[in-house]
Amino acid sequence: MTKIYRSLRFTVVTAVAISCAWAVADAQRDQGVDYPSGYRSWQHVKTMIIQPGHPLEDPFGGIHHVYANAEAMSGLTNKEYVDGAVFVFDLLDYDNSEKLIVETKRKRLDVMQRDSKKFADTDGWGYTTFAGDSSTMRVQQDVVSACYGCHIGAKESGYVFSQYRP
Ligand code: HEC
Repeated sequence: MTKIYRSLRFTVVTAVAISCAWAVADAQRDQGVDYPSGYRSWQHVKTMIIQPGHPLEDPFGGIHHVYANAEAMSGLTNKEYVDGAVFVFDLLDYDNSEKLIVETKRKRLDVMQRDSKKFADTDGWGYTTFAGDSSTMRVQQDVVSACYGCHIGAKESGYVFSQYRP
């Protein structure tokens, strides 16, 4: 009888521990990064096309444009990012026919927002992805593995991969 009770207690304790871990993971999924209103009139930094067959095709296949707000632009030149800096990775699908590559619908909008206190867990940058054209619907993901884990590779340049071409 005691044995059964113990194993039941173990199950309950384990279940509580697992749901707490889920709660932490949920918090990690949405760090509270803002929708970057007006980013289409910010500085265009660069453009790249990721074609079918490339290892990053899922989820980054398409034509992307990188935009930077004024704070992010000064960071690109001096490699020091102040709070308030925002980068946008605007990913669109494209149509490739008759020797023309033409933008079509938006697939997703990836955003990096600098706030050294709020996003201290991910070294000062918060990450999020807005689905398609939505400014409210976010892709559910663990940003630590989905974003930060790769951007850490650009630690030397402030976790930012893009370079500005004047
Ligand atoms: C496998 C590596 C990898 C992953 C995963 C990744 N990124 Fe990036 N990201 C890059 C690279 C490389 C660039 C530069 C693209 C270019 O040069 O056009 C970039 C560019 C960016 C930029 C523009 C600023 C910069 O660093 O150049 C933003 C914003 C961005 N990513 C957000 C995200 C978000 C949000 C996620 C998570 C959903 C994410 N990234 C996941 C590799 C990655």
